[in-house]
Amino acid sequence: MASHSPAIQSFTQSTEDKTLSVSWANGDTQEYPYIWLRDNCQCISVCWHKSGLAPRAGARFDLNLDVVPKSVEVTSSNPASSMDIEWSDGHKSQYLSSWLSQYRFNKSPEDVILNPKLRYWAADIDEKHQLKRYDFEEILTSDEAFLNWISDLKELGIALIVNAPKKEGELQRLGNRVNFLSRSNFGHIWKVQTRYTASREEHNVAYHTGFLPLHTDLSTYQSPAGLLLFHCLQAAIEGGESLLADGFKVAEDLRRDNPEAFEILTTTVFENFEKGNATDYHGKYHAVSKHPIIRLDQEGCIRRIVNSDHTRTPMLRVPVSSVLPVYRAMKLFHGKLHHPDNLFKYKLKEGDILCVNNYRVLHGRADFKVTEQETTNRHFEGAYLDWDQVNLRMRVLLEEKATKQ
Ligand code: OGA
Ligand code: ZN
Ligand code: ZN
Repeated sequence: MASHSPAIQSFTQSTEDKTLSVSWANGDTQEYPYIWLRDNCQCISVCWHKSGLAPRAGARFDLNLDVVPKSVEVTSSNPASSMDIEWSDGHKSQYLSSWLSQYRFNKSPEDVILNPKLRYWAADIDEKHQLKRYDFEEILTSDEAFLNWISDLKELGIALIVNAPKKEGELQRLGNRVNFLSRSNFGHIWKVQTRYTASREEHNVAYHTGFLPLHTDLSTYQSPAGLLLFHCLQAAIEGGESLLADGFKVAEDLRRDNPEAFEILTTTVFENFEKGNATDYHGKYHAVSKHPIIRLDQEGCIRRIVNSDHTRTPMLRVPVSSVLPVYRAMKLFHGKLHHPDNLFKYKLKEGDILCVNNYRVLHGRADFKVTEQETTNRHFEGAYLDWDQVNLRMRVLLEEKATKQ
């Protein structure tokens, strides 16, 4: 956008509104409040750090809300025209046309990395050929493959990687490719394997062989991990399929079909807890968190699902008369999530890595059979990634790609 912006044609000042209105050669116009322009001056001498990358600390501390321009001039000599302002306090600022056209207040385009276009899905996601298989080594070595993989994760909330080496610790390489794996009290990489010998305090759903209903991981954290990775080192001989449902899609269905239930799940705060001893990892833990099951942003968009029955506490700070409606709403939501129309069942093969947006997609597991010999039993490794790390890597790679073109 920067270099192709049209020239500034004219400007007008409104003393009453304390704004400057810019008109471009292509017919666009935009009003800019004086205070906003002064606040966003990027001069290297005073306002911005000489690296040109960030505002100077403290430079914005004591803004004069009544600041007005003493003089305004449009310079069209350089390829991109600019607007030069001298302020009432004597400070001088320059604003490039391309920079101004990037900031259009409520007309500004959305940040596509933070607000990607979502593609909702149901049980038939794979038949519709939406689900690509990404090659492990290719993701590690090709920026194109990496960016496609992340785009799928952003749009669909799940992605499949294949051909990962069938050995422990490989998820670390994926973490390094992003930036780093995000750590929990279960370490960087944790084992999902039947543990006959687990003591009572070591109890964990990862060690069972039973059906694991759909849930989000680390629901007991105030800031649960953003992405979940499951590396299959050994598949179960029978059963053990991964269960997945698009929480955002199902929540939108609920909003449409059962608005009262939707309202309850977005406003009721549930408490989650987990207590135990991760002897192979960071020892004793006792985590408590509070979340609505469906979290909305200030515009009413669904932003996060936090839901796990196996960590939900009895705490409900609602009037007693609301308790039954809360259960009704929860049951409706769970029923829709587990409905065969919505539930995508997929058995990971050795070398597969299932990647899940833990804020959107709920995951679970079908029960499976184990043999007497532990060496032939289902063995997965799990790890987490942080969305901020994924996003910052994505921005860097996209910027590099743009400069190469
Ligand atoms: C878990 C989990 C799924 C599986 O341990 O939290 O969701 O496939 N496991 O074993
Ligand atoms: Zn300045
Ligand atoms: Zn889980």
